[in-house]
Amino acid sequence: MTREEFAGKLQALLGDKVVFAPGANFASLAATAEAAEQSQTNDAFSDKWGRYDQSEEKQRLYEMQRKWYLDLYGFSGEEDLASFLEGRGVIFDAGCGLGYKAAWFAELAPHSLVIGIDFSDAARQAAQNYRHLPNLFFIRGDIAATPFPDGSVDYVSCDQVIMHTQNPDLTFAELTRITRKGGGEFACYFYRKKALPRELLDDHFRLRCKEMASDELWAMSEQLTELGKRLSELKVSFDAPDIPALGIKGGRYDIQRFLYWNFIKCFWSEELGPETSVVTNYDWYSPSNARRYGKEEVLALVEQQGLATRHFHEEEACYSGRFGR
Ligand SMILES: C[S@@+](CC[C@H](N)C(=O)[O-])C[C@H]1O[C@@H](n2cnc3c(N)ncnc32)[C@H](O)[C@@H]1O
Repeated sequence: MTREEFAGKLQALLGDKVVFAPGANFASLAATAEAAEQSQTNDAFSDKWGRYDQSEEKQRLYEMQRKWYLDLYGFSGEEDLASFLEGRGVIFDAGCGLGYKAAWFAELAPHSLVIGIDFSDAARQAAQNYRHLPNLFFIRGDIAATPFPDGSVDYVSCDQVIMHTQNPDLTFAELTRITRKGGGEFACYFYRKKALPRELLDDHFRLRCKEMASDELWAMSEQLTELGKRLSELKVSFDAPDIPALGIKGGRYDIQRFLYWNFIKCFWSEELGPETSVVTNYDWYSPSNARRYGKEEVLALVEQQGLATRHFHEEEACYSGRFGR
């Protein structure tokens, strides 16, 4: 199919809710958020993606993210994801950021229509970066109020996003609403609640961060990255005791990982590079909206929406899964 044919299919799907200009791969549904926290969250991500789009490290991050995506959602490899996507006419990347996952889906499923929505400026940047893909379109807007009719999307992917929306449970209901009944799937990732000291510090500190200017937030993210780097360079491991009352799991830890998981986010990865490490720390404390979930909360949400679990994954950072409607 040509770009014009995909555009026709997209416009038929969306009706007059969003109108793309002829030949355009970008449209704006809503550029501003009503809630102050969502508005601040959008600004933080616009700032983050605006800087990171220039980074020479981004291809390394994208590669790591694509591999992780396969693990998170139970695909044995890229071919497995490609055959899962094949025949799914409409694919939606909810909260697409710079759009590299939407572009990945569009390349793996060249006969499908792929749409990415993000509430930050990243949606426009994504559209500029991936103009060459005829089956891929971007919209700036809120994934809690999408322009899709009921049951019209064959695969909804909401990776590392839902916690940043104003009311994640309502967003989950909205993404369920648009997933096709009888065969459609909805993949979602949830931040996992961590040890008590880390949860308390994160909540308290995020309130302070709301008061900080963008330059201060970036400076703080650099300082946290430096802390993570220096701790990693110590190359000290030790046996931590179990402290169930604080939610701290005992075992052999590198000192940086121990502090990271239990006390403060101070990410550092030599492999991903210094800019990506700074952006990762910025991404954690800068957005006002960042809900964390317990496993029982995730499972209750899935049950409330009447979804069937096709794949469930858990690791220290998150819960994720693919749910069928
Ligand atoms: C951590 S990033 C993840 C981006 C992308 N999914 C990825 O995996 O690289 C979270 C993204 O969610 C977007 N976001 C937050 N709230 C949103 C909302 N209500 N509607 C649409 N996008 C939203 C942010 O702008 C940001 O780009």
